[in-house]
Amino acid sequence: MAGTGIFTDILDGDVYKYYSDGEWKTSSSGKSVAIINPATRKTQYKVQACTQEEVNKVMEMAKSAQKSWAKTPLWKRAELLHKAAAILKDNKAPIAESLVKEIAKPAKDSVTEVVRSGDLISYCAEEGVRILGEGKFLLSDSFPGNERTKYCLTSKIPLGVVLAIPPFNYPVNLAVSKIAPALIAGNSLVLKPPTQGAVSCLHMVHCFHLAGFPKGLISCITGKGSEIGDFLTMHPAVNCISFTGGDTGISISKKAGMIPLQMELGGKDACIVLEDADLDLVASNIIKGGFSYSGQRCTAVKVVLVMESVANELVEKVKAKVAKLTVGPPEENCDITAVVSESSANFIEGLVMDAKDKGATFCQEYKRQGNLIWPLLLDNVKPDMRIAWEEPFGPVLPVLRISSVEEGINHCNASNFGLQGCVFTKDINKAMLISDAMETGTVQINSAPARGPDHFPFQGLKDSGIGSQGVTNSINLMTKVKTTVINLPTPSYSMGEGFISRL
Ligand code: G3H
Repeated sequence: MAGTGIFTDILDGDVYKYYSDGEWKTSSSGKSVAIINPATRKTQYKVQACTQEEVNKVMEMAKSAQKSWAKTPLWKRAELLHKAAAILKDNKAPIAESLVKEIAKPAKDSVTEVVRSGDLISYCAEEGVRILGEGKFLLSDSFPGNERTKYCLTSKIPLGVVLAIPPFNYPVNLAVSKIAPALIAGNSLVLKPPTQGAVSCLHMVHCFHLAGFPKGLISCITGKGSEIGDFLTMHPAVNCISFTGGDTGISISKKAGMIPLQMELGGKDACIVLEDADLDLVASNIIKGGFSYSGQRCTAVKVVLVMESVANELVEKVKAKVAKLTVGPPEENCDITAVVSESSANFIEGLVMDAKDKGATFCQEYKRQGNLIWPLLLDNVKPDMRIAWEEPFGPVLPVLRISSVEEGINHCNASNFGLQGCVFTKDINKAMLISDAMETGTVQINSAPARGPDHFPFQGLKDSGIGSQGVTNSINLMTKVKTTVINLPTPSYSMGEGFISRL
């Protein structure tokens, strides 16, 4: 159970502690932040409302711990990460339980998230050992006008303090996707979890604590965004911010200083369906892509753009599958569970009502109970409807009928988002042309959008983000290139003759 067994230290009464200087602490604010269970709409957990002074302390320690961590051999850093991964996977049950309770993720998917996170940490440790253990050697005579008098050695060095801010929908997985690359590269790490997802994050951080990372190297600070949000992201000690979430990322990037940013800010992933597509395959992928975790994934299919000639058949197939989706508590592994908050449910409802007013066809009756919204397919959606452009982050999927592939590509490219997209066709040549034409960070051919496997590059264009993720790209983003140049008094060529006489 969450907060028990090896996790008892992280709880003070009914309030979870924050992690600083290698210890679990109670905030001097004397205040806490309530975490509402999306399904019951009652307070499930409480976390510390940390103060700006506590942020300052954490930053100070992160700066000093990083200096010795950067001098820790790479194999040792990797060893500790492997240890943390094993502890995390061993304790998947209580961590998954908190995911179920604070973000209403179905129980089975919650376990998958924890296991996937352990695998990501281990993969990152291995990749770090490989890519950080090698550098480049450049010779000057490849550039015009130069003799071979300069040897340039390049290697990768850490940035310093990395601030990681994961989102509510993958609080564990998208936290470790930032923590592991930061640590293997020799950085220290300050984690600010989302409010919903904070308790899962605190459990995950305890696994790193038990693995034996040095004091102050990792911290986890909880609290109200209004109190510590800007203070954290604009803190002078921060050397890199890795953020996943919504529009807040745009304001963070405007306020951040001259530091590397890794941002993933959502998407409106289009699913373009051609006339020759395998419609059964498309329908299954629309269900998986549009409705898994109740549509609360940045890579969810968020608009279907289907050729008019096959639209009726596809809509019927999707309708039949929607009818089979189970709706209810996450504990019972229902496909559709409550969305994260009442404000989110209200926002989704606003999009649905706008589509209704403007004449969309409802394939199911719209139904909502509290934060629980039944899956809904909206057909005959037109570009003047909000749902054609905005991301509901819920189990509501619009279908736009198109009369040409160009119309589909134009709709996709007119979006301010550009995360992923997908195209269904049996013609690989057409698929490649469409993929090249789509202004998105990734295009999936004959499958729904998805970030994983977690070592694949993952990036958004336009308002979907800055920088690329995936294990290798994250390690590279969280390092800087350092060069040392050896200058020779005379040119030296291997196998050159008469070199001794020039000395
Ligand atoms: O919600 C944003 C995540 O990066 C999506 O990840 O494709 O594994 O669901 P996923």
